[in-house]
Amino acid sequence: MLTAAGLVKHYGGVAALDAAGITVERGEVHALVGENGAGKSTLVKIISGAVRPDEGTVELDGRTVAFANTRRAAEQGIAIVSQELMTFGDLTVLENLYPLGGPRRFGLVSAREMRRRAEPVLADLGLNVDPSARVETLSLADRQLLEISRALLQNPRVLILDEPTSALPRAAADRLAKTTRRLADRGLAVLYISHFLEEVMRIAQRVTILRDGRTVLVGEEISQVSVDSMVSAMLGGTAPPAAARRERAVRGAASVALTGISVPGRLRDVSLTAAGGEVVGLAGLQGAGHLAVLDAVCGRTRPATGSVRLPGGAVPRSARQAVAAGVAYVSGDRKGRGLMLDQPLWENVTAVRRLGLGRDGPLPSRRHMVDRTADLIRRLRIRGGPYDLTTQLSGGNQQKAVLAKWLDADPSVFVLDDPTRGVDIGARAEMHEIVRDLANGGKVVLIASTDLTELVDLCDRVLVFQRGRITEEIDGPELSEQALSRAMNAGFAASL
Ligand SMILES: Nc1ncnc2c1ncn2[C@@H]1O[C@H](COP(=O)(O)OP(=O)(O)OP(=O)(O)O)[C@@H](O)[C@H]1O
Ligand SMILES: [Mg+2]
Repeated sequence: MLTAAGLVKHYGGVAALDAAGITVERGEVHALVGENGAGKSTLVKIISGAVRPDEGTVELDGRTVAFANTRRAAEQGIAIVSQELMTFGDLTVLENLYPLGGPRRFGLVSAREMRRRAEPVLADLGLNVDPSARVETLSLADRQLLEISRALLQNPRVLILDEPTSALPRAAADRLAKTTRRLADRGLAVLYISHFLEEVMRIAQRVTILRDGRTVLVGEEISQVSVDSMVSAMLGGTAPPAAARRERAVRGAASVALTGISVPGRLRDVSLTAAGGEVVGLAGLQGAGHLAVLDAVCGRTRPATGSVRLPGGAVPRSARQAVAAGVAYVSGDRKGRGLMLDQPLWENVTAVRRLGLGRDGPLPSRRHMVDRTADLIRRLRIRGGPYDLTTQLSGGNQQKAVLAKWLDADPSVFVLDDPTRGVDIGARAEMHEIVRDLANGGKVVLIASTDLTELVDLCDRVLVFQRGRITEEIDGPELSEQALSRAMNAGFAASL
């Protein structure tokens, strides 16, 4: 019912798309996969009217369409949940669900009616939030679910999801998979972009693969592919990098120590020490307290009681002080917490150093900063140049830029919260390698991730939190996704 063919799109000298296409049928979940920067988001932006192609056509039910904007596409039943979330932080949940004003009764927008229609959709996705809460108070995962709910409330015929699960914990991703399946069974056409290839295998019926802006696999049945064959097609012959080396490093003297810290409503009397040389994972269900630990180390939350000590003895009383004391904060919420999107890449990458961390002598020349950025671009294989505006990078490449910025500043503590969100499987292994190298070089690394395989791949040990306390520590051969999941859910209803 939806066909895009011969799509070409250039940005300056860069071909984002070069002979790309896809056909999505009613009743199917059709996955679109490819490396970071392959052109996936560009393709769906063209379908949904956000971007005009240089060449090529989009057909809906056999008729050629060219939507002037996403609103026109929405009127024709095409709903998109874009990769970089478009929620309005200062509005309420309900206002975000109905950007066009919502259902009218007797010509008036009825808040009651809005709530009534939203309730089953939110419940289905497991989004338990107060409809009158301001969206900026929501977690990234909940904002992601909110955007999906908004798309569903449009009752679309074609639903496009651009990495909908990149910040979702497993349980929420599973619920979304069920919802997606059911919608397809009811006749919707679903176009699904994801870097989680196992997830693609579970929920899609067919898959299309893009490489460097070209379609290299067209609507193949999912039963005819495997994770390995998809990776080969994505990379086109280059071997995927091996998993991160796990050397036992010599423990550095540097460490982060939390002693008896409490944060009302979030943490109760938690003590832990993370030494230089180890990667310490923090896991838990939403609200379990693990993220409050990250906030305390980053100086974003001040504990009511207890103390936080950074290497060298500094106490992080504010985010600024924590940065000055050598704490890096790599967040998957790159838009809200990591990058100035309207600035060139070099300004972002060198921002921390310019603003003071590692300030050892005069401000380096612009030439020097651009060169350093170019080095990091090579090291992290970011698709883009130092002078490119950061907003022009693809989602995964923006995420790499967040890490680049902190590598440039050379801090002693790395606090990572979903650090590889939206990063493709090859680049993710490379980022993991870099994180292991940081630890091996004596840095303290603390990491939380909604993706448990990331914790298993990276961590020496993982502290599991429940209701504001550490309830379990898992390390060595015991560390597996199942063990983590069991510990996180222990004591809760078996239905979780
Ligand atoms: N507005 C823009 N200006 C300049 N270049 C752009 C713009 N939008 C996209 N590009 C470039 O086009 C290419 C494809 O980007 P796109 O966002 O479609 O990739 P993607 O497959 O969605 O990647 P990811 O998995 O990282 O999200 C990238 O090299 C990107 O830098
Ligand atoms: Mg993208």
